[in-house]
Amino acid sequence: MTIKSINHVAIVTGDIDEALAFWRDALGLPLDHVEPVAAEGVNVAFLPVGGESAVELLEPATDDSGVARYLEKRGPGIHHICLEVDDIEATMARLTAHGVRLINEQPQARDNGTFYAFVHPKSAGGVLVELYQQPAQD
Ligand code: CO
Repeated sequence: MTIKSINHVAIVTGDIDEALAFWRDALGLPLDHVEPVAAEGVNVAFLPVGGESAVELLEPATDDSGVARYLEKRGPGIHHICLEVDDIEATMARLTAHGVRLINEQPQARDNGTFYAFVHPKSAGGVLVELYQQPAQD
């Protein structure tokens, strides 16, 4: 298995427009789009960086979402780092063999066919790590 890239760095903000004043306006990153992700109770802004990575701004859309609780507890800032891998099951098996705790025991599927799983921050020095496997393109 191969770790291919840092797919995205996700940042929690209470207000996407406020965050865009830095990431888009001051820094000059392009804003690709903003979309609601109802399943997670968030709005997400996608700002591509180079060809392979993105900054994702997460804004809670509901008061009871995980991101809303995170924001209340820890304030705005970096939420997680996402590594793109070519084989998520092999990556998860490798981590488990190393005694690493996973939040998702099985890969989860997004609507677009991407598989993802989160590693428990307690096993990663306090960093929430997301694994991504993009759908096969043919
Ligand atoms: Co993510």
